[in-house]
Amino acid sequence: MGKGKLIVLEGLDGSGKTTQALLLAEALRARGFKACYTCEPTYWRVGDLLRLHVSRLKRRSPVYEALLFAADRYEHVAREVRPKLRRGYVVVSDRYLHSSLAYQGASGLSLQWIKRINFFAPKPDAIILLDVPAEEALKRKLKGKRPGKGFESLSFQRKVRKVYLKMAEEEDFLTFNGLKPVGELHREILGEVLKLLRKH
Ligand code: TYD
Repeated sequence: MGKGKLIVLEGLDGSGKTTQALLLAEALRARGFKACYTCEPTYWRVGDLLRLHVSRLKRRSPVYEALLFAADRYEHVAREVRPKLRRGYVVVSDRYLHSSLAYQGASGLSLQWIKRINFFAPKPDAIILLDVPAEEALKRKLKGKRPGKGFESLSFQRKVRKVYLKMAEEEDFLTFNGLKPVGELHREILGEVLKLLRKH
């Protein structure tokens, strides 16, 4: 029974996380690794509740949201992340704990408290931040298929990006320029992840 690795992709809505996370998991599988894609919010019960809540209330209740995101993460970890890690998978997660730190932190909550209510979450082996300016992220998001859903004001997006960039410095994230073309970005991310996997 191998010990897997947890690789997390973080960034603003519209930063290209989902595309890159899916490409990464696929490229790892093509190279013979056991790898899977997973995401937060999940599609379990709390995840569904969250989607409803976030789209309706638009972040007017940060404590309630932080607790729901933590509950959803608890289920994600228990049902998906830990079992896969135990079976030796490289788990590629599209958002994880640092989404709560960035978004609920940007809503005014203490990062310490958010960390405390997420004490159960295994530490990622790598955190990949796809950095894009808030204006670009919002532009991409609004061009998307689901108008209205997950819409954030520009000033909130700017705050979220600021928290991400601060954490990236303090915690040694792998930060990438999300404005690069998809293929080029994918090759850069894959290169760094392969380095990490070969080291261990
Ligand atoms: P998103 O990645 O957009 O999911 P999807 O595209 O599948 O609907 O995430 C939904 C929103 O939830 C997004 O604006 C970020 C936010 N979020 C938090 O505020 N805290 C968290 O802990 C997580 C995981 C997400």
